Amino acid sequence: MRTSIQKIQGFKNNKEKFPVLTAYDYPTAKIIDKAGVPMILVGDSLGNVVLGYESTVFVTMEDMLHHTKAVVRGSDSALVLADMPFMSYQTTPVEALHNASKFLQEAGAQAVKLEGGENMAETVETLVSRGIPVVGHIGFTPQSSYQIGQRVQGKTLESALQLIRDAKAISEAGAFALVLELIPSEVAEIITKTLSIPTIGIGAGPHCDSQVQVVSDMLGLFTDFVPRHAKSYAHIADEMEKGIKDYVTEVKDEVFPTNAQTSHLDQDVLKDLLKQI
Ligand code: KIV
Repeated sequence: MRTSIQKIQGFKNNKEKFPVLTAYDYPTAKIIDKAGVPMILVGDSLGNVVLGYESTVFVTMEDMLHHTKAVVRGSDSALVLADMPFMSYQTTPVEALHNASKFLQEAGAQAVKLEGGENMAETVETLVSRGIPVVGHIGFTPQSSYQIGQRVQGKTLESALQLIRDAKAISEAGAFALVLELIPSEVAEIITKTLSIPTIGIGAGPHCDSQVQVVSDMLGLFTDFVPRHAKSYAHIADEMEKGIKDYVTEVKDEVFPTNAQTSHLDQDVLKDLLKQI
């Protein structure tokens, strides 16, 4: 049984902090699921940390559906939340509904996430009223980074007030959780105390109900750019590089493969074969 949205709400009601991690593929989803993480986000950070794009703007519905399916196959227990990519929901609520339904029906996700505040409330309401669980995402919204820059949002009085209005609008529209990305801890705390739904922070300080991290950042797998809000829990890229260098050396030095990695022909078959050639 996968984590339900009621269970996610229960974490907030019981004041129990919960972790969320991104995943983009089957083996990583399996490990995260086994570790007991209750919600996996198939983030469109896929574009940056897996597909090598400079922006999430280039991620398509096809990319997201493909990777969401792999994460669903790799997990049994976690709620799988899929990011709606750029321009799959910003046009009209009806188009958003059409695209969001694909994540549930085709890819097997249990919920979708979309970026935006008051401007997206109508869309969130449309999806939720048709039975699609939605998570909102405000603060730094990477799909708008060409417009807003790569920086902490909500540092001025007016922008902090706007964030609070955005949070309320998305919550009132029916979202079951809200991602707060790159906002001052104090603003995140006010929003977390104001909303009855859980807040999921990334670069938003310790007061959020939950924390989300990009798995490649926290495991040291993607090292081109490591954001300040990411804590390093492992150094997978270093381990991979070491393993690959060892392999290269062993192939060159004829140390690999050994008998353990080799299969042999039965001696009689070999004799017959050699006679015939
Ligand atoms: O795409 C993503 O990984 C995200 C998280 C940063 C919240 O949206």
